[in-house]
Amino acid sequence: MFQTPYPSVASLLASETPRQGIKAAGWVRTKRDGKETAFLELNDGSTQGNLQVVIDKTQTPPAEGWDPLLASIGTGASVEVAGSLKESPAAGQKWELSAMSVVLLGAADAETYPLQKKKHSLEFLREIAHLRARTNTFGAVARVRNTLSFATHEYFQKLGFYYVNTPIVTASDAEGAGQMFQVTTLPLDNVPRAGGAVDYTKDFFGKKSHLTVSGQLNGEAYATALGGVYTFGPTFRAENSNTTRHLAEFWMIEPEVSFIDIHGNMDLAEDFLKFVFARVLERNPEEMAFFNQWVEKGVVETLQTVVRKPFARITYSEAVEILTKSGQKFEFPIYWGIDLQSEHERYLTDVVYQGPVIVTGYPKEIKAFYMKLNDDGKTVRAMDVLVPRLGEIIGGSQREEDLVALEQRLGELGMNPEDYRWYLDLRRFGTVVHSGFGLGFERLVQYVTGMGNIRDVIPFPRTAGNADF
Ligand code: 4AD
Ligand code: MG
Repeated sequence: MFQTPYPSVASLLASETPRQGIKAAGWVRTKRDGKETAFLELNDGSTQGNLQVVIDKTQTPPAEGWDPLLASIGTGASVEVAGSLKESPAAGQKWELSAMSVVLLGAADAETYPLQKKKHSLEFLREIAHLRARTNTFGAVARVRNTLSFATHEYFQKLGFYYVNTPIVTASDAEGAGQMFQVTTLPLDNVPRAGGAVDYTKDFFGKKSHLTVSGQLNGEAYATALGGVYTFGPTFRAENSNTTRHLAEFWMIEPEVSFIDIHGNMDLAEDFLKFVFARVLERNPEEMAFFNQWVEKGVVETLQTVVRKPFARITYSEAVEILTKSGQKFEFPIYWGIDLQSEHERYLTDVVYQGPVIVTGYPKEIKAFYMKLNDDGKTVRAMDVLVPRLGEIIGGSQREEDLVALEQRLGELGMNPEDYRWYLDLRRFGTVVHSGFGLGFERLVQYVTGMGNIRDVIPFPRTAGNADF
């Protein structure tokens, strides 16, 4: 079986007994070089903590001598250390690596290495996104993101749902909201035309196509064959909104399930969120302690509470009533029919319920064409899950499974039924009640870690005006 060349720092720090003949490798966070003893803090990304390397300079020196070797090892350098794991007399750490030999793998020039020992601003670190994973904050974000990702598969696999991969390039607009990135191989300085309009039959796919905004419609095709499915992939939105919760490229988790209605959908969303929160609390205690101390005070306790308590569930009409009666001044005045703005959502989560809230039954005018119409003819079985600090993290619905009602809705919205022929087939042949939702993965990571800006929870953020790295 494959083994990595070095044991991880995490596994060394978790050792039960002292060990000899250990080799570790990683990047130096700090160095203290004294007359007889030198210390290196070694980090390999496997855990929040560093491995303290202790070098007794009175022992047999390497060929070049201890002082010249240590002078060449600065913050950011990569090294390999051989020695033994011994109980550490220092407070706060159980083990240290007593070095017999140290090999410099790759030097890092102290003058030009951008990550110095001092605290850097998140804005500055965004400009060096290729190096920021070497900081405590971004290492912790990466590990928590990984846990959330793995826990997502764990959760749905446990339910017997199938992971499906839906297309990235598509000719359908899943949300009917525009905001799509066009994909074309037509020469932009000389597009072929038919009449006045661009002739897309000459384009690569023979029709106008885009990067997907959601895998849902394709997900429905598989849910109405396999029962329960989920996607977990990149989605794209050309929203020019420069906010702390919007990206142009983000990852979405989209379960789609046959035979469940809006109530089953709410139960699934709540159960899923609680499962992944619990997993992070269990698997990333050090990272969470770090976020709790440095990023968002109280985030651990908040998650523990959220896992225990039922989410509040209210209708859109109730939400409007609560907001109206609150006497609170909002930038966007509240009335029935308006789409809830982030300030409204956050008033509900942060002030009224102090926890997650699921809102259902939105006016059909502000929601997508595929949502199941309620008997009142005015509202749809939409569902948004709102959380404190962020507002919406999940958007979903029961889907309109009735062919006639769905065709009528497309007509009302001036959408061309021909474009949705295959989607309508799912209602034409063996239609069933079904529901699903989309969870913005970066918003989930933001919520769990307490990180304020969505650009800091994805390795290389894409936003309007920025596709660096
Ligand atoms: O509410 P949305 O637009 O819903 C859909 O796309 C449905 N088709 C999902 C479904 O039912 N299968 O987006 C779902 C979630 C939002 O709640 C939000 O968390 C996230 O995706 N999201 C974004 N995250 C980051 N940047 C953006 N620009 C986002 N737009 C939506
Ligand atoms: Mg939404």
